[in-house]
Amino acid sequence: MNIEFVASAAAAEVLAVLVNDGRVLAGVGPGLDNTAAGALTRAMTNSRFTGGSNSTLIVAAPAGVDAGTVVLTGAGAPDKFDDLALEAAAGAAYHAVKLSGAASLTIEVSHLSPDQAARAAFAARLASYRFLKYRTTLKPEKTPSIETIKVVTGDVKAAEAAYVAYAAVAEAVEFSRDLVAEPANVLYPEAYARRVKGLEKLGLEVEILGEKELEKLGFRTLLAVGQGSVRDSQVVIMKWNGGAKDDQPIAFVGKGVCFDTGGISLKPAEGMEEMKWDMGGSAAVVGAMHALAGRKAKVNAVGVIGLVENMPDGNATRPGDVVESLSGQTVEILNTDAEGRLVLADCLWYTQERFKPKFMLDLATLTGAMIVALGLEYAGVFSNSDELANNFLAAGPKVGENAWRMPIPAAYDRHIESPIADLKNMGNGRAGGSITAALFLQRFTNGTPWAHIDIAPTAWVKDSRNPTVPDGAVGWGVRTLDRMVKDAYES
Ligand code: BES
Ligand code: MN
Ligand code: ZN
Repeated sequence: MNIEFVASAAAAEVLAVLVNDGRVLAGVGPGLDNTAAGALTRAMTNSRFTGGSNSTLIVAAPAGVDAGTVVLTGAGAPDKFDDLALEAAAGAAYHAVKLSGAASLTIEVSHLSPDQAARAAFAARLASYRFLKYRTTLKPEKTPSIETIKVVTGDVKAAEAAYVAYAAVAEAVEFSRDLVAEPANVLYPEAYARRVKGLEKLGLEVEILGEKELEKLGFRTLLAVGQGSVRDSQVVIMKWNGGAKDDQPIAFVGKGVCFDTGGISLKPAEGMEEMKWDMGGSAAVVGAMHALAGRKAKVNAVGVIGLVENMPDGNATRPGDVVESLSGQTVEILNTDAEGRLVLADCLWYTQERFKPKFMLDLATLTGAMIVALGLEYAGVFSNSDELANNFLAAGPKVGENAWRMPIPAAYDRHIESPIADLKNMGNGRAGGSITAALFLQRFTNGTPWAHIDIAPTAWVKDSRNPTVPDGAVGWGVRTLDRMVKDAYES
């Protein structure tokens, strides 16, 4: 998507104008309506459009107006007009005209600040994301036609300057969405690692550990997950050194199960294709590191992702196998479909031992039980640190990503005790399945401040209500992590 900031809306192909609740035209709206001899007001009063958030009204060719089409886009109540309401208005305007045949959309926000102008561009760009790589026969009428978003602002230079950081985040979200959307025959662990290696161009340091190194280092629970696959397992370490030289880094850790068949504890066929996005946690970590590097954040950060494919095979891990983790703790693998925690166990232990981070925050599509508990609009937050959990929970709502704190009661710890090993990789039955998974991870944190985000509910969306998040891969977590770092960890 091309983004331009312009000083005037003259001769716009499609002009988007914000409208507040009660059909109140914002900014240049009333002037435009006058020029059009009240055509905008008439169009509104003859429709159900009242200016509510995420609703639009197209007014075709209003006489006297220097624009082909005007799209009125809801900004909601004026006293509730925040960053997210602006993003929704810009995103909804894009969706209203994306298939119209017009090549450009001009968003009129000259009454708002340059930062808000930049945010409107950012939102329209995120709204326009589609994964069309493999659609070779898409009909023209179903192909998005908008190629350029123009945003009208009173200060073009300032809006362009503000947009630099927004563009870095947008690019990171897009990169993350692409990873999540790719099928598992394309994005297997080595291919994934290569893509991340490409991010060195942003100034990230990227280190790839292959199976030989992982064996030598003792990533045995991670390797136990990948051993049924013909694809080699990988661990990728990303470093962004934007802070002071001796400043302890913050650390993000991600579950990257490129495909989760369940292994020998095979999943049912129906819906199994969804498990191509079982690497969504790792994609959030990659996206966050991409964003930090892209906008040159003043922080030291490391990202560690464990990439495996969980397959059934003659060489696959069996239910009942006992494996010694990198930490030295032994694990009875009772269900090979509870593989994410095995991947993260070694990654978490390695991260705290090697980097001695300020905190470790992991993201994972870890449990179906998280969806049962919270539904599809909230990720679960488990943490041994109120400060860390609160910083995460404060950032999410600012960027439209919801999360909810969950308990990790020590009283449930007995549910992961094993008669044969130090712990087992599932709880007793289904009760509190997300909590027992979090308790398992906690055993590998060695007392480091830690938060675990279970994004099984939110990594993929089927009927999005958020204009800036099209159906499919969400890139969930990239914006929250970036915002959390910006608000709480940058010097
Ligand atoms: N990747 C799944 C969890 C999942 C389910 C993510 C649905 C997204 C949507 C995970 O590896 C898994 O299979 N978990 C099991 C754990 C159980 C075997 C203890 C689950 O949730 O059923
Ligand atoms: Mn699984
Ligand atoms: Zn999984």
